[in-house]
Amino acid sequence: MAALSSSAVSAMLLVLLASFFMATSASTFFQDFDITWGDGRAKIFNNGKLLTLSLDKASGCGFQSKREYLFGSIDMQLKLVPGNSAGTVTAYYLSSQGPNHDEIDFEFLGNLSGDPYILHTNVFSQGKGNREQQFFLWFDPTKDFHTYSILWNPQSIIFSVDRIPIREFKNLEPIGVPFPKNQPMRIYSSLWNADDWATRGGLIKTDWTKAPFTASYRNFKANACVWSSGASSCSSQSLVSTVNYNKAWLSRQLDSTSQEKMRWVQRNYMIYNYCTDTKRFPQGLPPECVHTN
Ligand SMILES: *[C@@H]1O[C@H](CO)[C@@H](O)[C@H](O)[C@H]1NC(C)=O
Repeated sequence: MAALSSSAVSAMLLVLLASFFMATSASTFFQDFDITWGDGRAKIFNNGKLLTLSLDKASGCGFQSKREYLFGSIDMQLKLVPGNSAGTVTAYYLSSQGPNHDEIDFEFLGNLSGDPYILHTNVFSQGKGNREQQFFLWFDPTKDFHTYSILWNPQSIIFSVDRIPIREFKNLEPIGVPFPKNQPMRIYSSLWNADDWATRGGLIKTDWTKAPFTASYRNFKANACVWSSGASSCSSQSLVSTVNYNKAWLSRQLDSTSQEKMRWVQRNYMIYNYCTDTKRFPQGLPPECVHTN
């Protein structure tokens, strides 16, 4: 295993010493999430095992995790709005709060029937994003559930689809790139209308005769460090549940097989990469794009 950088080590110590619980959960939407907006358009079924979001002309809807996390390996299965989903955006992301927030984003931009969704990704650290990468998928994400994962540990952030890594954002603090590691984040998801920009830059409008539009969620699973805010009592590290808990994720980095898979995705399915957009960054590409190791 590769040696950890000193910043990674200190971040890990932070994890172990500060106010955390180590938790694993494969539980229900009732236990882990709050529906936050949309006036009944978000619904939980099957004893908490399935959640659906829907969008109509009047409103979309959304939910968020009850807990805040500082590092985690988080899986969710999503089945996206089928048929003519042009103009709809399904967002699934982690975010902290405040002006200098951190954020790790998946956004799914709908399309006309038969035309491919765009999977849009971004990473914000200390309030600064502008790190978009976009992909087509190698399957139809509306036919079945697929697993979308975020691995967030002190060394890197890895986005995966069905266990295949598609993007890695490394901790490059030593070369001056801020990395999300001090602000706890919640998981958020929402379905809304963005036909002013989403599909072909806003050219294609939402067809409201097809509403309501519905996306489904199941099999949430988090191996994560849960932040217990406020209370000074929560200083000990305790396993809420030890079932299936494995903390290998905390030090996981991409091995060569995973890197090879990621290169395959990026070669064949990546349609936008801020790191190659020299027009956008006339002063020079961001440092994380130029860095090689
Ligand atoms: C929709 O399909 C068209 C045609 O294949 C493609 O150019 C576009 O990137 C797709 N996605 C969105 C969100 O417009």
